[in-house]
Amino acid sequence: MIESVNTTPPELEASLWRIYRDFFDLAEKKRRWRIREDIPWHECNPKLNPAIADVVETFCCVELYLPDYISKILPLVRQSKGRAWFYANWGYEESKHSLVLGDWLLRSGSRTEEYMADLEGKVFAREWNLPHDTPLGMLAYAMVQEHATFINYRNLRNRVVELGRDPALETILGFVSIDERAHFGLFRELFELFLKLDRDLALAALRPVLNQFQMPAIHDLLDENQRRIAQVRDLELFNEEIFFRDIYSFFLNTLDISRSEMRGPRVKKSIAT
Ligand SMILES: [Fe+2]
Ligand SMILES: [Fe+2]
Repeated sequence: MIESVNTTPPELEASLWRIYRDFFDLAEKKRRWRIREDIPWHECNPKLNPAIADVVETFCCVELYLPDYISKILPLVRQSKGRAWFYANWGYEESKHSLVLGDWLLRSGSRTEEYMADLEGKVFAREWNLPHDTPLGMLAYAMVQEHATFINYRNLRNRVVELGRDPALETILGFVSIDERAHFGLFRELFELFLKLDRDLALAALRPVLNQFQMPAIHDLLDENQRRIAQVRDLELFNEEIFFRDIYSFFLNTLDISRSEMRGPRVKKSIAT
């Protein structure tokens, strides 16, 4: 069973480790950015359309579930050095996302310190749980999730440009979306290894992820989730059409999977007598 980390073949584990080291070395060389120094904070636009700040707040909340994201995945992958080290580094990068979005909400004057403290209290009062219980299921989930997150941030950046510009927020969303795309790239490389090794098992892990996709936390954990989902739709950051084109079809093309494979093995009709 390749889905159990305890029995991951040594050659597969060596490949996972190599993929992680390349990812890490490249991140150190090309992708590090600093919240204090690399954002033009003096260029926050206080007149920006407030709908943008509402969505920045929602995305910040999703990023704030970091303690659950890390603490629940690490026990599942702790015997796979490549995956465990990756998640440690991933946690560092994700921690910057809620920090920088929270800083923008304050520095732009969109939110107060009191409001943010109250918001964090509400987030931490609820707990996010793993949506899949095997390492392979979580790998498929993370791959799709990271790509969807990239799409959301990229689209939000485009909307900021269209709705009045904010060089500070545009820079932030640029850095964050590049991080999300890099996370997706790493997960995709890992998932492709499993796809080569056991296509049926990998497809079985991917099917429920693509067929029942939801953005984490927004749908089930955040206060006023219906309003938040509507705001994401209103700005055309994410909706059914975007999902079908940029997520569902994208993954089938990228991973070279046919639609019939994604529908699953045919269930033989039993002939009732
Ligand atoms: Fe993130
Ligand atoms: Fe990410």
